[in-house]
Amino acid sequence: MVAERFERWTKKQIRTQLQILRGEVAPTICLTNATYLNSVRKKWLQANIWIYEDRIIYVGNDMPIKMDTTEVVDCSNSFLVPGYIEHHAHPFQLYNPHTLAEYASVRGTTTLMNDNMVWFLNTDKKKALTVIEDLDSKLPTSMFWWARYDAQTELNHEEEVFSYSTMKAWLEHPLVVQGGELTAWPKVLNGDDSLLHWMQETKKLSKPIEGHLPGASERTLTQMALLGVSSDHEAMTGKEALMRLDLGYTTSLRHSSIRPDLPKLITELLEAGLDDFSRVLMTTDGSTPSFYEQGFMDLLISIAIEHGVPIEDAYGMATYNVARHYRLDDCIGMIAPGRIAHINILEKQNNPFPTSVLAKGQWVKKDGVNCYPAIHFPWKEYGAAPLKLDWELTRNDMHFSMPLGVEMVNAVILKPYQISIDVTQNEIPAESEESFFMMIDRNGRWLINTVIKKFAKTVSGFACSYSNSGDIVIIGKNKTDMLLAFDQLKKQQGGIVLVEKGEIINSIKLDIYGVMSSSSMEQVIEEEKQLVSMLKDRGYMFDDPIYSLLFFSSTHLPYIRITQKGIFDVKKKTVLFPSIMR
Ligand SMILES: [Fe+2]
Repeated sequence: MVAERFERWTKKQIRTQLQILRGEVAPTICLTNATYLNSVRKKWLQANIWIYEDRIIYVGNDMPIKMDTTEVVDCSNSFLVPGYIEHHAHPFQLYNPHTLAEYASVRGTTTLMNDNMVWFLNTDKKKALTVIEDLDSKLPTSMFWWARYDAQTELNHEEEVFSYSTMKAWLEHPLVVQGGELTAWPKVLNGDDSLLHWMQETKKLSKPIEGHLPGASERTLTQMALLGVSSDHEAMTGKEALMRLDLGYTTSLRHSSIRPDLPKLITELLEAGLDDFSRVLMTTDGSTPSFYEQGFMDLLISIAIEHGVPIEDAYGMATYNVARHYRLDDCIGMIAPGRIAHINILEKQNNPFPTSVLAKGQWVKKDGVNCYPAIHFPWKEYGAAPLKLDWELTRNDMHFSMPLGVEMVNAVILKPYQISIDVTQNEIPAESEESFFMMIDRNGRWLINTVIKKFAKTVSGFACSYSNSGDIVIIGKNKTDMLLAFDQLKKQQGGIVLVEKGEIINSIKLDIYGVMSSSSMEQVIEEEKQLVSMLKDRGYMFDDPIYSLLFFSSTHLPYIRITQKGIFDVKKKTVLFPSIMR
């Protein structure tokens, strides 16, 4: 890989940028009479802001000398703030990195820092790194990535997925801004030196490590700080957030579909007397699509303002503070010379929903009108293709004689229970809270059959290729409908299918790896809402079926999980019932 390729501006480009100051070249855009947020002084100052292509050239009282080709925009009645940053995106929750970036950018979030899990599981290093480079260069959004150290599930070939050369290439990549999120922290604590090696390598590269430390005690947080973790987004109370700050952590306050905690966190932090937010960030933590109808980082900033955070700090928590934490304040997070031209234009200081948005110096929204450029991102060219299932699922696979079932405690927590129903029948009666459950390898090599309690009352056949590990989950009351749901999933090459009485009553196509949709965010939101309401009509018992599906195999959650290796006891770290080879 040629390092030069990642110099954001070439020597020639920088020379041209200098010519603008000398009046030899005209800026592309000049924002005049602007009241802008100076992130360093936390003050609203007056300036004219010159932009050339994707870079802020000048912020001050002067006007450009040469401006024959310049677009001049009078900003005397507006307020300008830096483009917002989501530092903890999981850009594959039915939406894909491009559709998420587009949707977020017209709401003012013009930088995403993304989980790289989807690439780890679905493609090789070379293709993955090409995709992330092209996403950053082709989109108006700045697209950064994390390098995970672990898969937050038990994979059959974890050593291959997280091989030495793959880890090294990701960590060293200029678009990769952190190590983590570290969900396998108990492993490091218990002596896993290969994980610690990668953490140390991350530090050597001057990149921070993000933890994933829900419910962690002061002692655990202290140990993790010694191991190199310097941020965390899992505080669920003001007290937990404060403890993280006191222990030197950069602390991100989460407001997501599954944990909409921001009002409580802020109220409790203010009650505890916090008056310095410089090491506080915010995140929507990979919310499900429809959650984002309320807004993106603009929503979180407005909640922060509404609950009493000083306005300038509220913006800082989604801009300058993030850039500082990731040591990227020389290129994002503030309106100052030399930074990438991510600027939001607001009607009022206390309303973060922008009327106009400049992303890398391009208008993606202007005077309330969405003008995001038409960009086709050719996923297939990167091998990010539909899911091809070239094997059959038959009656012979539908044996559920297993003593141990899984019971849902809420949308994401599973506990074991003793199965007592007759599992040889074709259908479990509607009055029972139980359904058949199958997790099957996407290549059809192994499966795990059990019974799930409290998923739904009358979901007859349901199949889904969207999961944390990329394996296929099939749930239902009726084995015939389950088989039909799988057949449809195979036919449509990935996605989610709902079957009732021999009929397909709902389906979502996920044409990128069977996990993400290439459709627009707006369409995915509608599809998700329809599916969720149909599942709820059929007795799905919790709030978020999409998260239930994602997390069946996630070993960072209690108590048992259904993984590639089998039914897994998270605490004892043992396989209770292994998966079966077909
Ligand atoms: Fe997360």
